[in-house]
Amino acid sequence: MRHNYNQNPIQVVDAVNGKIACFATQSDNNEANIDAGVVASFGEEWSKFHNFSKAEIDNIGDMYFDILNEKMINKNTYAIDIGCGTGRWSKYLLDKVGFIEAIDPSKAIFAADRLLGKSENVRLSMASTDNLPFADETFDFGMSIGVLHHIPNTQKAMTDSVKKIKIGGYFYTYLYYSLENKGIFFKFLLSLATALRFVVSRLPAAIKKVVCDIIAVLIYMPFVLVGRFLSAMGLKKFAEALPLSVYQSQTFFIIRNDALDRFGTTLEQRFSRTEIRAMMQNAGLEEIVIADTLPYWHAVGKRVK
Ligand SMILES: C[S@@+](CC[C@H](N)C(=O)[O-])C[C@H]1O[C@@H](n2cnc3c(N)ncnc32)[C@H](O)[C@@H]1O
Repeated sequence: MRHNYNQNPIQVVDAVNGKIACFATQSDNNEANIDAGVVASFGEEWSKFHNFSKAEIDNIGDMYFDILNEKMINKNTYAIDIGCGTGRWSKYLLDKVGFIEAIDPSKAIFAADRLLGKSENVRLSMASTDNLPFADETFDFGMSIGVLHHIPNTQKAMTDSVKKIKIGGYFYTYLYYSLENKGIFFKFLLSLATALRFVVSRLPAAIKKVVCDIIAVLIYMPFVLVGRFLSAMGLKKFAEALPLSVYQSQTFFIIRNDALDRFGTTLEQRFSRTEIRAMMQNAGLEEIVIADTLPYWHAVGKRVK
């Protein structure tokens, strides 16, 4: 398998495990589509939260990747993880694919280097969707998990990402949902959360982290504990109907991380299933599967044009 970059400049850096191959710069023929503040904030976040256990990665990974099959990923698959953060989902897929290129524009790439750098079948690059340093139609499989909704033009970021997938290859994404399948109470809570996020995301990094820890304890944990109690009483259906139910099976570390992830970023966009399907089709994907299960919405499609 050949792994060639097609753009320059390529600066090989001596990172922790020496695996960061390239710092891509903005290419001349693509418009910038990146929010520098958001990227800096994620760099901070992932520098603090990267010690995920195998059980934590597997637990959430099994939920994210429930819609993939052997045809989409196998030992011959050349894959790209776009906006890899700490590289936890690349780690999840490492023994299921041939080779992964993991890219992220933030300093999270150094955390990914620590998590993945010793693996033979992965390479890391500091790059973004608007300067992916690979030729079009390079990959058998691409994924972008919780990333595209933090980019100013989500459709363009998806289209730029899908261009790197071969015709007949697959692209997987997870995007925040617009709660179109939920009632008024959930929507009201979201509007409160959005107002709180507006304030919290603008705080200095150190204060933001403390405030998000407080949010994890005072907002997430009460819902989580009530849900766990209801499940233990055999009332699983009621537990699943609660807000933040996805966290009932997660560790406190993941809950703290996700509180910072949710409330720490200034740019968050949300999409309905219909909008996601339309964006995927516009990007050239068909045979689209959008899972009915949490986390909402995760989807995969095949590149046909
Ligand atoms: C919520 S994190 C998700 C990280 C990882 N996929 C995960 O689920 O653990 C979003 C990531 O998107 C990256 N990101 C932001 N803007 C980007 C862009 N224009 N291109 C690629 N990645 C971007 C951030 O640096 C951050 O690591």
